[in-house]
Amino acid sequence: MRIPDDVRKDIPLTQEVIYFDNTATSLTPIPVVKAMDEYYLKYRANVHRGVHRLSQMATHKYEESRKIVAEFIGAKFEEIVFTKNASESLNLVALGLEWNRGDKIVTTPYEHHSDLLPWQRVSKKYGAKLEIIKGDDEGNLDLADAEKKIKGAKLVAVQHVSNALGVIHEVEEIGKMAKEEGAIFVVDAAQSVGHMEVDVRKLHADFLAFSGHKGPLGPTGIGVLYINEEMFDIFEPPLIGGGTIEDVDLYFYKLTSPPERYEAGTPNIGGAIGLAAGIKYIEKIGLDKIEKQERKLVKKTTKGLTELEIPWYGPRNLKKHAGVVSFNVPPLHPHDVAAILDEHKIMVRSGHHCALPVMKRLGINGTVRASFHVYNSVEEVETFLDVLEELVKSLR
Ligand code: ALA
Repeated sequence: MRIPDDVRKDIPLTQEVIYFDNTATSLTPIPVVKAMDEYYLKYRANVHRGVHRLSQMATHKYEESRKIVAEFIGAKFEEIVFTKNASESLNLVALGLEWNRGDKIVTTPYEHHSDLLPWQRVSKKYGAKLEIIKGDDEGNLDLADAEKKIKGAKLVAVQHVSNALGVIHEVEEIGKMAKEEGAIFVVDAAQSVGHMEVDVRKLHADFLAFSGHKGPLGPTGIGVLYINEEMFDIFEPPLIGGGTIEDVDLYFYKLTSPPERYEAGTPNIGGAIGLAAGIKYIEKIGLDKIEKQERKLVKKTTKGLTELEIPWYGPRNLKKHAGVVSFNVPPLHPHDVAAILDEHKIMVRSGHHCALPVMKRLGINGTVRASFHVYNSVEEVETFLDVLEELVKSLR
């Protein structure tokens, strides 16, 4: 596939706008929409609940989607649980483990609220101790401090890529530290899956969460929780009922085996099928090409912002900088900058990005954020920088 032209042909919206809000949600390629249409129009039925042919077909496609997801991240079939999104996946982890007073939970100062609030609640409710690894204003973690803090931890939760600063964390090293201490290692991979290689075994992950609607180019409303099979005995399903049992009588139930044990009620069948189609699409392009294109765009963007003397955030070492560039155009409020960019049909997110502790640490009320995927082009970045140049000139 020619990058980005062939991908752009599959995504009609790229002809209409410059879409730089991929960290919030990506655009959807036609093959993904078609796969979901096919489910709704040709074999619409519930899964695991019927012997009729439509139900058999839906079950087959749903479970095939699970296999595609598992292979994509190096997991086993039964280790993949479909959820609503990464936030739900992370909350389930906190809700399904047993907690005792004094349990130590270690995380970072850069987490999305969805990988911070669940741990804060555990800490408040059960008297667990929350410890934060030190890091600098660019988002670089102090690995010596990580090693110190992880000693004696019950659980370590780290984002792979920051949605606010774009920094790629050393999850593999931190996972190794966690495993050496016998701690449970949780990875928030919401901003990495679909943008770069993610292999749950290489990362030493016990749990890994991601959404379908971001990197993997799937629809909204579908997410994944990877559960290492070693966790099956200690991880209680927070939701039980339809589909999760082997046997029930009035005062007793016996849960079935994973993954069904962890999926109560009718799942998002069309969403899972769409997610698998997104993953197949990503595989057709190749993660190496996606990464290369995003790196090119980040390099051009950060260089352009520097030349315009526009402050940008995140690591100066671009090898550690994923396709997310946060910046500000003082004295303008981030929302005003985003509104001006919108007038030029450039879509960016502005605000605190569900990472208020990061904003407070930097002493700002938010940022403007340009975030890329493989279908974004160098020409789009040039247009974006031209608009910013005009804006900066008008302010000086
Ligand atoms: N967490 C998503 C973002 O950063 C919604 O935009």
